[in-house]
Amino acid sequence: MCGIVAYRGLRPALPALLQGLSRLEYRGYDSTGVALNPGDGHPVEVYRAAGRLPELAAVLPAAGQVSCTGIAHTRWATHGAPTVANAHPHVDCTGTVAVVHNGTLDDAAELAAELTAAGHLLSSDVDTELVAHLVESHLSPITTGAGPTAAAVVAAVGAATARLRGSWALAVTVRGLDAVVLARHRSPLLVGEGDDFTMASSDQLGFATEVHTVRELAEGDIVVLGDRHGWFDHTGRAVTTPRPGRPAEPPAAPADRGGADDFTAKEIDDQPAAAEHLIATVAGRLARGALLHDLGLPTGERIRLVACGSSAYAARVTARVLATVAGIPATVVIASEATADAAEPDTLTIAFSQSGETADVLAALDHWHDPLLAVTNNPQSTLARRSDAVLGLGCGPEFGVAATKSFTNQVLAGSALALSLASALGRLSVGELVGFEDQLAQVPARMAATHRLSAGPARDLARRLAMHPAFIYTSRGAGVPYAFEGALKLKELAYRWVEALPAGELKHGPLALIQAGTPVILVQARPLDRLAVNGREMAARGARLIIIGPGEDADVPVAAADHEPPWGPLESVIALQHFARETTRHLGHDVDRPRNLAKSVTVE
Ligand code: AGP
Repeated sequence: MCGIVAYRGLRPALPALLQGLSRLEYRGYDSTGVALNPGDGHPVEVYRAAGRLPELAAVLPAAGQVSCTGIAHTRWATHGAPTVANAHPHVDCTGTVAVVHNGTLDDAAELAAELTAAGHLLSSDVDTELVAHLVESHLSPITTGAGPTAAAVVAAVGAATARLRGSWALAVTVRGLDAVVLARHRSPLLVGEGDDFTMASSDQLGFATEVHTVRELAEGDIVVLGDRHGWFDHTGRAVTTPRPGRPAEPPAAPADRGGADDFTAKEIDDQPAAAEHLIATVAGRLARGALLHDLGLPTGERIRLVACGSSAYAARVTARVLATVAGIPATVVIASEATADAAEPDTLTIAFSQSGETADVLAALDHWHDPLLAVTNNPQSTLARRSDAVLGLGCGPEFGVAATKSFTNQVLAGSALALSLASALGRLSVGELVGFEDQLAQVPARMAATHRLSAGPARDLARRLAMHPAFIYTSRGAGVPYAFEGALKLKELAYRWVEALPAGELKHGPLALIQAGTPVILVQARPLDRLAVNGREMAARGARLIIIGPGEDADVPVAAADHEPPWGPLESVIALQHFARETTRHLGHDVDRPRNLAKSVTVE
């Protein structure tokens, strides 16, 4: 999704900016741009493209770009279509002020009317442009030759942001001032310090490898990256004690498909090893709540699980394990729908987010002040920094937009937490705990077997069903979250309409959708006999039943446990991932980068 990179140093800015943008690419975007500021009074040069980095490269000057200050952006459209005119950076009326922005402004319409009435000429549909004009109005009059002082730009950015409502991480550069000015509110922004340069980015991945120290802007901070850096808090006072710094993480390994046709294929394939790694880190710490105690967390009776999308389905599995094994009625909060609830003492909030950057999750967490545990694949993320403790998924980078190995590891992490809590509360005998530990230990092998068993049949099925416009995905009990997750894979990758629901709900309305040949993907789960009854009800009305499970009658076989574990038929999701991916390939769509979507959803 939207990403910011800024550079101010002694070397040309453009290579560092482009490298940063390319590292942020996997998050998903639809247009991009850079602004280079020579800092000597010559104009700020802005280059933008609708599309991805190769499109931007095509409009950049071939050589001779020596500006050592610049800002850059990848945009995921919110206000206005993904066109060149709407791509960042945005400039004011005179091209003096250039701005890149992550976040959304709630008062954009009102501001646009105000600025237009004051004579500003707007040239895009994008809320960000309004910031450039607001800064302009607070800076004027600026003559093109003599640049403003850093203090004047800080004051103008402060005055502009005081007028805004919504969320923003901003990087601003102004003609005649060899500096970048940063501001943030409800959207993350980091400063990365190197020996002879300073960068800013919305994500640590955007930094050059030479960055050694990372500091985060606090809410309302305004920072100058220039000859003399300046750091100001939300009251405008200089921050004399530097914001806490941390060593930069070693650069992530370059994206590598490992010989697979696409990242999604590799990441489906990675799952047994990823699961094995996660289980190895948690399994020895289940007894008596050690997993939670090691993280410094309480082992109380109240749990709130917060997440979106696939992560919310992993949270649902966790809630089920908490209910059935620990007797704890955990609440699953869909982050985008969160509201403050009556404060219950001793609640532990667990946020599931593979990216740790999901704006809906971060915003939802403003509602509560309980101890917070992040279950995330990104221990450097904004969520991780905000949390009291972090349980890392450790499944390695996931580049495909569709969650695959991060989902299965979230299920395992959540289940381990639930089992550990159950043990802490005395709800599990030693024998029962050992039984669950054994079941957990068998998961990687069953995943590997399912991978082998299901890939071929899923491919054949995809060939037969790819052209079908609509599907039903269903299951019962512990299988329901996996039916939902499989349905989400088909929607987001293959662009097929899918109704996902518990099988018992069909007769309460959606059964009317079934006609001759309607494909119904049935994820086998206990109680099998009840699910079979529902299957017969659908078949009687002409549905084409497709069984995903361990039975001999399965269309896509799954290596399931003899006794269903409390986290249900997790392995079935691998078969469903194969089916979604093969359908997508058959239809000729991009498996890794589905239309309209982003890997990190950084807007609310
Ligand atoms: C699913 O394939 C998606 N990638 C999506 O639903 C995702 O799970 C959701 O956007 C939440 O993302 P997060 O885990 O990074 O918070």
